[in-house]
This record gives sequence, C-alpha cells and structure tokens, in this order.
Amino acid sequence: GDPPFWVGKRVLMTAGPTFEAVDPVRFIGNRSSGKMGFALAEALAQAGAQVTLIAGPVSLPTPPGVERIDAESAEQMLEAVLARLSDTDMFISTAAVADWRVAKPAEQKLKKQSGQDSMTLELVRNPDIVATVAQHPERPRWVVGFAAETDNLLEHAREKLQQKGLDMIVANQVGDGRAFGQADNEAWLLHRDGRETHFPLRRKEALAEALIQTMENWLNDSKD
Ligand code: PMT
Repeated sequence: GDPPFWVGKRVLMTAGPTFEAVDPVRFIGNRSSGKMGFALAEALAQAGAQVTLIAGPVSLPTPPGVERIDAESAEQMLEAVLARLSDTDMFISTAAVADWRVAKPAEQKLKKQSGQDSMTLELVRNPDIVATVAQHPERPRWVVGFAAETDNLLEHAREKLQQKGLDMIVANQVGDGRAFGQADNEAWLLHRDGRETHFPLRRKEALAEALIQTMENWLNDSKD
C-alpha cells in the first residue's frame, strides 16, 4: 500500500519569538518559549518527515532528527525561510513573529539624559512571513499558520486563514497565562474548506501528535 503519510515529506517550520533590536543590548520581544513549535517539529520528525526548524531565540534543545537554524529578528527569520523554501511540501508558522521592528536601532547603547522622563521609539511594519510564503512562486503545497488570540478566537482565526492565503490554521487562546510559555495548550484546527476540529487542553507534545494525525487524515482524503 501507500507509504505512511509523513515519511519523506519535507516540512519547514518556524518557532519561538523574534527579538527586534532597540540598541546593542536591548530588544523588543514576546513571551513565546518555542515549546509548541518544537513539540510539532519533534512529532513530525518522529512520524518520518524531514523537518527544518527555523528557531527564534529560545532555550530549548533541538529535537532528535530535526535540522535547526537559529534566527533572531523577523527579517532574519524570513531570510532563513526563503533560503530553504524550494522543494518544501509544508510550511508551518508557529513563531510569534513581531509585527513591528524599531525603525532605526541605535548603534551605541542608548543613554538617558539628565532630566529626560520619556522617550519615543518609532516602529515600522515587519514582513509577514507566512503570508509571504503563501504568495511565493515556490509556495509549498500546504501552508499552515497559527492564530494566537485573546478574544473571538475562531472568528479571528478564520479571518487570518483567508487573508493570509493559508490551507490550515491552528487557533489557540492566549492571555490569562494561556499557551505562551505553558506546558499545556488547547487548540482548534481549521481547514480552508470549512472543516474544524477542537483539541481539549493537554500537553503540547500530545497536542502536536493529535494535530499531525488530523492533518494527515484531512490531507489524505482531500485531493489538495
Ligand atoms: O512558544 P510557546 O510558548 O509554546 O507558545 C506557542 C504560541 C502561543 C506562540 C503558538 O501556539 C502560536 O500561537 N504561535 C503564533 C503566534 C502569533 O504570532 O500569532 P498571530 O496570530 O500574531 O499570527 C498569525 C500567523 O501569522 C502565525 O502563523 C504567525 O507565525 C504568522 N506571522 C505573523 C506576523 C508576521 N510578521 N509574520 C508571520 O509569519
């Protein structure tokens, strides 16, 4: 019969936060630990996929069998992704990519002036990595995003799925100590054809296994 679904599939992923430099010692970052993305990378490699993981600044060991490349800022992460896009079957964007970066990072450590009691940082938009991949001439067959929302989770996730041109999106509620940095997560998987499945709260490793099992089921019986 057919070989197991994930065997030999090339999966490119991102995980963790991005750090956007303010000056040589300071950055703007977020609370992503990389755990969700690393758990997915490990589950996929275990299932036989060829996994390349572009990791933001996190303190996690590289999962066995996974090729890992480190990146710090959103621009560096995009560059690392585009350099490895060709011949990719699936791109999965778990990273919490900063939407904004500092317009002109200072070359020297910023000093406070005596009497100064406020300062302003100008921010500019970062590229949208998953949307760039979804529109790319070398677009992988499947492009999967995540949606981290504090409110109206499914509504916002359905919007992102459509607006970013994705095939599937994993929606998870954040805020109030949820998802970011946690060992557990609860999620929904949404397909652009309208299929939706809920995964109750569980360890991120177990969630990762359940997510890839459902993706396999869906992708096997749809002709996309
Ligand atoms: O790392 P952990 O501590 O385990 O936490 C996991 C997580 C909560 C970070 C993860 O499960 C998650 O939800 N990741 C996506 C976080 C996010 O930035 O979501 P978003 O709704 O802002 O972005 C939507 C999608 O666009 C995501 O796939 C994101 O990777 C992508 N994006 C966003 C902005 C940007 N400039 N480029 C992108 O590619």
